[in-house]
Amino acid sequence: MCGIIGYTGPLQARDIILLGLSQLEYRGYDSAGLALLTDEGNLYLRKTVGQVSRLKELCREAVSSHCGIGHTRWAKHGGVTEANAHPHQVGRVILLHNGIIENYHTIQKQYGFEGLATSETDTEVAAQLINYYYDRTNDPRQAIRRALNIIEGSFAFCILFSDIPGTIFAVRNVSPMVAAATEQGSFIASDVTALIPYTKTYFVVPEYHILMLRDRSICLEDPEGNTVEPELLSVSWDVEAAQKNGYPHFMLKEIFEQPEAFRKTVQPRLRDGIPCFEAEKIPDSLLSGCRQVQIIACGTAMYAGMVGRAILEQKVRIPVTVSIASEFRYDTPMIDSDTLVIVISQSGETIDTLAALRLARECGAPIISIVNVKGSSIARESDYVIYTHAGPEIAVASTKAYMVQLAVLYLLTGRMMVARRLTSEEEIRAFTEHLVASADSIQEMLDVIPDQVRIQAERIAFSENAFFIGRGLDYAFSLEGALKLKEISYIHAEAYAAGELKHGTIALIEKDVPVIALATQDKVFSKTISNVREVRARDAYVILITKKGASVSDEVCDVHLEVPVEDGFFAAFPCAVILQLLAYYTAYARGYDMDKPRNLAKSVTVE
Ligand code: AGP
Repeated sequence: MCGIIGYTGPLQARDIILLGLSQLEYRGYDSAGLALLTDEGNLYLRKTVGQVSRLKELCREAVSSHCGIGHTRWAKHGGVTEANAHPHQVGRVILLHNGIIENYHTIQKQYGFEGLATSETDTEVAAQLINYYYDRTNDPRQAIRRALNIIEGSFAFCILFSDIPGTIFAVRNVSPMVAAATEQGSFIASDVTALIPYTKTYFVVPEYHILMLRDRSICLEDPEGNTVEPELLSVSWDVEAAQKNGYPHFMLKEIFEQPEAFRKTVQPRLRDGIPCFEAEKIPDSLLSGCRQVQIIACGTAMYAGMVGRAILEQKVRIPVTVSIASEFRYDTPMIDSDTLVIVISQSGETIDTLAALRLARECGAPIISIVNVKGSSIARESDYVIYTHAGPEIAVASTKAYMVQLAVLYLLTGRMMVARRLTSEEEIRAFTEHLVASADSIQEMLDVIPDQVRIQAERIAFSENAFFIGRGLDYAFSLEGALKLKEISYIHAEAYAAGELKHGTIALIEKDVPVIALATQDKVFSKTISNVREVRARDAYVILITKKGASVSDEVCDVHLEVPVEDGFFAAFPCAVILQLLAYYTAYARGYDMDKPRNLAKSVTVE
């Protein structure tokens, strides 16, 4: 949930830290801070509430330093105050942190730290503990190790010792951290976005390994104190991919990148015109032998899973369950080796999803993960990984990652149909052609629909509530539509099974309440239209989304938007574009920051 960056080497650390914090700000933006250690051992520490731009103002005066650490915070323990911002200094230790220390109260009591606190954070307790042991050993690595024996929870620590200029220490458990040694110096960060301007070769910091970064080199020490070599990875995208490139917001750029992201994700998984996962080494026996499927994810990824459930059950005819990861991880799941578990995560670091994956593994289930970030924790702990190729998704509200998660779920559905001999060659080719053509339907929507949607967004922008309704697949699409609107416009939006409205919720429908109704599924089209008439009869403002050419009489809705698909089974993709743009333009009309919505962060790496 927080952004971390550290640098040591021949260049000016302040500028590198501030640039890195700007690139990591999507991970958390309540407050920011940095600490620079000059070659003479003088410490320069600045922190502030608010965004990185305010920190830049504070750091205007020139400070010549070649070693420093920086942090953008998403508040967990303690409010959004300057005192609670990182880094925290205790004695000779300056530390910043991403994660949650579960036993920090116990440590405070056990070591008598309570009266010494200058903040409300668990992070300061970690600094106190490491300083406690540093005072007694004068050995930074031993001090860190001794503290790690006490600390319980998730953490990514970056640590400076004021009497060891030029050196950064780092260690993690669960919370993400990557590092790179380059000709320009050594870098440590929460994710690879901050390293891209300097290198495409990096490594994921192994858990409980202590890193020592000094000048252009990094020493990696395993828990037993042995020096080990890191496993190097390379990034497939470049700096530009993580810039706005003329768009006003990352979110809009990422919405318009969807056709390319879709094609990059789908094309490599086609062989002779049908879905193929040979490159991922996913055996057909796994897809044909499983008796049920369990999908696990959070937020938008989970709503992609809801679409996955609907299409898999429709085509493969086996039970598919979708679980919210934070619920699943504390459940006693009824899964086993005959259950195929599909874990979906853009970041590959969502802590609840990672914990749920580990529980599924304990149950003996084979795990396929659908992940957008190469080398991420979830990817590394899965049996099989299907990487989506959306490129970096910077906006907190997920758009292109959702789109390519859907694409992979359709590919998996097609492959399962083949593996289970549920389809003729002709049928699977037709299925695949429809899927491949979905990139064009996404593009067509981006070409023709934005202005129409923007007008509707301005029309509903100052509503207090909004409802998204649909049946079957349309209900699955509406779940994501409601979340998108909620998380960036702060309008209370709710997705509802259209047939269920009459059982209570329709009481909330009154004049001008926006109802976005999805009716792209032939089988339930007339039933959904009946539900639309019911809300219209109560003066709701109805935006109706159907397949192109659907016959809809004027009095049924206020606005009728059409998606260019013949088969509603593939309506997920163009519908997503409408719902994403509706959220974007509504938030725009309300004057909010679409890329950094309040209270949110891009990757939820704390429980
Ligand atoms: C989506 O717009 C949200 N930012 C959020 O729901 C997100 O999808 C969820 O936190 C899961 O993240 P992940 O895909 O990185 O695991």
